[in-house]
Amino acid sequence: MNDAFTREPSWDPRLFPPAARAPRAVQTARMLLEPQGYARSLRRRFGPVFSLRTFPYRGALVCAADAASNRAVLTDHARFTGGDAAALLAPAVGSGSLICTPPPVHLGHRKLLLPPFHGARIIRWTERVRELVHTELPALLSGDGVPLRPWAQRLTLDVILRVVFGLTDPARIATFRTALSSFVAMGNLAVLFLPKPLQRDLGPLSPGGRFHRLRATVRDLAREEIAARRTESDHAHRDDVLSMLLDARDEHGAGLDDAQLLDELTGLVLAGYETTATTIAWTLHLLAHHPAARDDLIADLDEGAGRLLKATIKESGRLRPAVYNAMRTAAHDTELGGRPVPRGAFVAALFSLTHLDPELWPEPDAFRPERHVGTDPVPYSLTPFGGGVRRCIGVSLAQLETETVLREILAAAVPEPAGPLEPARLVSVTLVPAQGGRVRLRARR
Ligand code: HEM
Repeated sequence: MNDAFTREPSWDPRLFPPAARAPRAVQTARMLLEPQGYARSLRRRFGPVFSLRTFPYRGALVCAADAASNRAVLTDHARFTGGDAAALLAPAVGSGSLICTPPPVHLGHRKLLLPPFHGARIIRWTERVRELVHTELPALLSGDGVPLRPWAQRLTLDVILRVVFGLTDPARIATFRTALSSFVAMGNLAVLFLPKPLQRDLGPLSPGGRFHRLRATVRDLAREEIAARRTESDHAHRDDVLSMLLDARDEHGAGLDDAQLLDELTGLVLAGYETTATTIAWTLHLLAHHPAARDDLIADLDEGAGRLLKATIKESGRLRPAVYNAMRTAAHDTELGGRPVPRGAFVAALFSLTHLDPELWPEPDAFRPERHVGTDPVPYSLTPFGGGVRRCIGVSLAQLETETVLREILAAAVPEPAGPLEPARLVSVTLVPAQGGRVRLRARR
């Protein structure tokens, strides 16, 4: 069992913010099936700081859903510590990945990983994204309605495998794709929300058994890449993350061992492709269902005005952020929004709910990109990439990919609805469109 779970305090209503009385299994199911609606109903009942009593936590997940408490959780690092808090994700991303690294090791570790994700270093991926869109456009245009998320996953996986492993061989990329898509499927990652004992490998047919088998396939592929690169006499000409990490040394001259490399690299791939693909799918799906916003954006791009592209992506990230929350643990007994929080409790900056606060965002359910034009949001009212020293390191890459896909697709096609606006479901920590974000793409003349 992960250490963070053993340190977690058990549920005691006097020690935690208020929670619904419904059984844990019911709260878990509601959070997975209607993550935004359920959280909203709890906020209406209890105010912006409340507890969610879901699996796999034995206490509760303390949720913060207004700008002030969102800021406190994301930036008050002495009270709310990162790393351990990603215990839920550790079985998926690997406990040695940056996401799961607690302070003080975290900052040095983060500095090591940041350079390849710097804005100037990632510009060169624009061309690859364009190529990928153009290769697939004919298939997208011929359909009567396609789910965009699986399509976008192919694209973002191709990019992240190049960035992280320097992969270019299409057959090898396809092998990774098959392994990763089974591993991150809703039916598999749901195991993370089972009670801890049921997450174990209880035989090949058990959910835990299946999870561990699929995880092993992904990690074996990554291991093969690391082994192959270690045998290369000279990788100085390469600029992928793997080559960079092989040369990295700490102040004592020690390099990273294979176990660390494996967690780091698989963590980056998992953090980087699903999230970006989901953002692309939600943005095009929302545009298809909001023709006025869509037509304004197309006109804006046609004129080369560049007024609405970033605003549209911000609005999509507000209404349907790809990541549900950012996690911390309470370093000591403390309070949040006047509610008690016990030491060791898991605490979530539940920005997917802060983003729907009507005091911060009038008519919060309306998709209105122009609300972001020419104004800065209230601090910590819009944080789809988290914040503080753990803010997402992939922001520039994710934005470059999303902007490029939108530019290229909207130059060639008009997204239209292919069914009703889809509700969000929770897969691990990702808020995904229930049917994959279906749209019909009508070719522009
Ligand atoms: C639209 C796409 C993406 C979204 C919405 C997103 C969102 C997030 C969020 C909410 C966090 C947690 C921040 C916090 O705890 O305060 C995070 C962390 C992280 N993300 Fe992303 N992310 C995206 C794309 C990427 C990409 C492309 C990468 C590339 C490698 C990436 C790598 C990471 C890593 C390594 C962390 C952990 C940072 C740390 O703990 O220091 N993400 N991301």
